[in-house]
Amino acid sequence: MSLMVEVRGLVKRFPRERMGSLGASWDIYLQGLRQLIRHREYGEGEDDDRLVTVLDGVDLGVGDGEFFGLLGPNGAGKSTLIKILCTLLLPDGGEAYLNGFNVVEYPSHVKASISVMVSQGLRGFDQTLSARHNLEFFASLYNMRGRRARERIDRALGIVDMAGDADRRMNVLSSGQKQRVALARGLVLDAPVLLMDEATVMLDPRAAREFRSYVQALNREEGKTVLWCTHLTHEAEELCHRVAILDRARVTACDTPHNLTARMRDVSLLEIEVSGIHHDGGPPPVEPLSTRILDPADGRTLYRIKTDQTDTPRRLLAEMSHWVERNGGDLLMAREVVPSLEDVFMYTTGRPMG
Ligand SMILES: Nc1ncnc2c1ncn2[C@@H]1O[C@H](COP(=O)(O)OP(=O)(O)O)[C@@H](O)[C@H]1O
Ligand SMILES: [Mg+2]
Repeated sequence: MSLMVEVRGLVKRFPRERMGSLGASWDIYLQGLRQLIRHREYGEGEDDDRLVTVLDGVDLGVGDGEFFGLLGPNGAGKSTLIKILCTLLLPDGGEAYLNGFNVVEYPSHVKASISVMVSQGLRGFDQTLSARHNLEFFASLYNMRGRRARERIDRALGIVDMAGDADRRMNVLSSGQKQRVALARGLVLDAPVLLMDEATVMLDPRAAREFRSYVQALNREEGKTVLWCTHLTHEAEELCHRVAILDRARVTACDTPHNLTARMRDVSLLEIEVSGIHHDGGPPPVEPLSTRILDPADGRTLYRIKTDQTDTPRRLLAEMSHWVERNGGDLLMAREVVPSLEDVFMYTTGRPMG
């Protein structure tokens, strides 16, 4: 299988200090220059504490036609990786190839191979023009004009279900519709690789669901290769053939969702829902893998607890129900559950996703 995205030992470092003002960009630029000079003099600045490594030797391979997920919490380095792949940022080490082209050496070939869709993808749209006029302008930047452009734009608007609203001004469209127009912009190019960075975060749940099925159809019916970055485990589970878990600049696991969760097959999980525990009741007697407060008003809480040979589900359930009873609470539900990707993340990194 040929690889459409190949990343080998990719490294990216940023200056540690980050400031929000406009002046900060100068500062970062000057810092970058200083670092460049220092690197020339002293070689690699591995242990320079003014730099933070946000990609630390990342390896990935995405096959032709694959729907590949990059799953990681905020700050893991997903967007940085996408920016390197779409030639917006230069790597500090390692190599990346898109559609066989080295991203540093052949940026224009890379750009012609990708459609990029990011969560803040609405930049560059003129809000006073119609969706269609915006797309025509965008196509013209790629020297696409006349009938060919019109056909492509109509097709893209159809795919994202915006044909009926294409002639309305951008500023009267809902945020979900705008997001779909932004996707259509990516589709006008008809590139073989779709790079999606948290593409659904600005959509309401229904629009997000529709959007996911559009992209799934593009993958299934048109053979597009998809690299889908998300911090949402359910998206990775639902959509992706394979998932790489990116955590703190490193890939900690990469496999099919099924195989990733199968790693936890020796571990069963007990899910326990309780409410009304006294505040002075202290923490549960067994440390849960994860804790989710469902209703702060009555303290309804869902615990997921790892069980094994010694800590059997029966024993843990008994301990938990004693604790609930002692603290005047109610045990609402207890059941054994199949581990999810969220549990795998907790299990491999020791921390929750959120
Ligand atoms: N231009 C930049 N300058 C300095 N630090 C940055 C810059 N861009 C991203 N970072 C830092 O790099 C880390 C990874 O960020 P990012 O790639 O956006 O992660 P993710 O997309 O997984 O949330 C974060 O700690 C972020 O603050
Ligand atoms: Mg991001």
